[in-house]
Amino acid sequence: MPHFNALWVTETPEKTYQRQIIQRSVSDLPAGDVLIRVSYSSLNYKDALSASGNKGVTRNYPHTPGIDAAGIVEHSDSPAFQTGDAVVVTGFDLGMNTAGGFAGYIRVPAAWVVKLPAGISLRDSMVYGTAGFTAALSVFKLEHAGLRPEQGEVLVTGATGGVGSIAVAILSQLGYRVVAGSGKSSAQDFLKQLGATETLSREDLQDESNKPLLKGRWAGVLDTVGGKILGTALKTLQYGGKASCCGLVASPELQTTVFPFILRGVDLLGVDSVECPMETRLILWDKLANDWKIPSLDTLMTEISLEELESVYLDKILRGQVQGRVVVRCEALA
Ligand SMILES: NC(=O)c1ccc[n+]([C@@H]2O[C@H](COP(=O)([O-])OP(=O)(O)OC[C@H]3O[C@@H](n4cnc5c(N)ncnc54)[C@H](OP(=O)(O)O)[C@@H]3O)[C@@H](O)[C@H]2O)c1
Repeated sequence: MPHFNALWVTETPEKTYQRQIIQRSVSDLPAGDVLIRVSYSSLNYKDALSASGNKGVTRNYPHTPGIDAAGIVEHSDSPAFQTGDAVVVTGFDLGMNTAGGFAGYIRVPAAWVVKLPAGISLRDSMVYGTAGFTAALSVFKLEHAGLRPEQGEVLVTGATGGVGSIAVAILSQLGYRVVAGSGKSSAQDFLKQLGATETLSREDLQDESNKPLLKGRWAGVLDTVGGKILGTALKTLQYGGKASCCGLVASPELQTTVFPFILRGVDLLGVDSVECPMETRLILWDKLANDWKIPSLDTLMTEISLEELESVYLDKILRGQVQGRVVVRCEALA
């Protein structure tokens, strides 16, 4: 049985969480239809929650986090996949309560696996990863609700983060005028390179008055942070504007009134990448590989080893200090 390196998170009796890289065997993996030799994974905010004992994400330890994986099928009990297929797995239970992608191998149900479309490499699929897929799903839902570039500006919040940075790049490529909301004043050049026409600070985006509505500016809002920033965004949507909501890094709370909805007819669209149906996944991965492909993917990514993930990046993302996307190299051992 092949051996591989994996991130391994253990729980102490005092409920503290310790991380190390250990060697595991394929025979340790859970049952599943498809055994995948992982080439790359990627870092998402949820991975850091799993690696630090958040029981809403991971109930039982020891555990290997990693909600994303891209690699080559080594064995399949499903006729849908053949040995040698390049595949990607994001979401479902991967890395939550199923051993995840921060490892040289994963074994998962066939229903979780997407064949990598032509036009994209394994590495680039992980520059997108769950964050990029969620950005694409948010744009897809906003457009399905009727958002079009000619309607006006679109605000992206948490814009230097994983979801935010890919969202800025996709929207600007589709012809939208994108305003990037970010807490990092040093990131203006980065955001403009991705296609933002203007950047606003978090303070600019948080209304402290208790007014139920403010001047309508945005045709669309792609929110990744929740809390007061999302509440303010709803007050500043134009008539008929649309907002999508996927994240909670600022807060899971949402304070609003019904006025944006009943006086301006705005729509608030929920975005869930985890249980997203396979039909939509296939459409979106094809868009990411082709029509919506970001030409400058390398400018928004950092590639790291499992060791750097363990020692630096899991803490960095929890502090909101990661800019763009982080791709993790995962290598099987001989
Ligand atoms: N619903 C889904 O299916 C789904 C899928 C993927 C992710 N998510 C969620 O979406 C959110 C973003 O994920 P991500 O992978 O993009 O995370 P990320 O890379 O950590 O990015 C989050 C960004 O939010 C901003 N931010 C951090 N702390 C903040 C605070 N206290 N107040 C306001 N803004 C803050 C920062 O950007 P700036 O410095 O530029 O402001 C940060 O880079 C997370 O909550 C994640 O769990 C949900």
